[in-house]
Amino acid sequence: MVIEILCKTEEIMRECGRVMLEATRDSSMVSKKAGPANFVTTYDKLIQEKLKEGLLSLLPGSVFWGEEEENHPDVSRGYVFIVDPIDGTTNFIRDYKQSCISVALLCDGKQLMGAVYNPYLDEMFSAIAGGGAYLNGDKIKVSNIPVEDGIVIFGTAPYYPTLNKESFDLAYQFFQCALDVRRSGSSALDLCNIAAGRAEVFFELRLSPWDYAAGSLIVTEAGGAVTTAEGMPLTFDGPCSVMATNGKEIVFHETFIKNG
Ligand code: IPD
Ligand code: CA
Ligand code: CA
Repeated sequence: MVIEILCKTEEIMRECGRVMLEATRDSSMVSKKAGPANFVTTYDKLIQEKLKEGLLSLLPGSVFWGEEEENHPDVSRGYVFIVDPIDGTTNFIRDYKQSCISVALLCDGKQLMGAVYNPYLDEMFSAIAGGGAYLNGDKIKVSNIPVEDGIVIFGTAPYYPTLNKESFDLAYQFFQCALDVRRSGSSALDLCNIAAGRAEVFFELRLSPWDYAAGSLIVTEAGGAVTTAEGMPLTFDGPCSVMATNGKEIVFHETFIKNG
């Protein structure tokens, strides 16, 4: 049953991906949300509506929780879709081509299925709990590279300015001991890049469930580890920090520090 829901979910996400690719950009499509540089576009809303209609019809009795709506359902019971219609909205506004659609399905508070679609590269990442992680149907695995030889991705949101210093301090620490660091503007794609073995660590000090509910399952099903920055399990009823790795231990040790 879950595999059928995943296949149909992917079809709906691909249709929404076409909407992203065919978008016409002008200033009237953008509105401001709370805090600095926090935007929503008419496309976020349009895609969310398409996903809501399509996903609820796949699983009657399920509940939909999308970023661009006010309601906050109880995620601890029944089937709940947690959806980010466009993850990487600032990138989308600027046509930076680094954005995606993220859909997760929870059952009684636990991740059952996740899919993240990057329409620019036509990459569909997916996972079903216990069934491994896939990219366009091919199985994917996290890398086996230690952090000192690895790529570290981090995220920061301009709308949480109190976290700026801590985020960049931690990124600086990683930059001193890893191969290099990256910041993409799409946390769901960042998580998928860990799952696909393209990078070794991702962290962000505050994300919302729609940012990580799908991507974090894809990482764990690819053999990686995902917790909060404090090492606790992720929560799906509200924001938390996220630390995803390929499973290798992270040790900030003097001897790893380059340029120091
Ligand atoms: C944002 C992106 C970004 C992350 C922010 C998120 P949005 O999501 O995932 O990478 O740094 O914290 O809010 O607003 O583009 O859906
Ligand atoms: Ca997001
Ligand atoms: Ca979004």
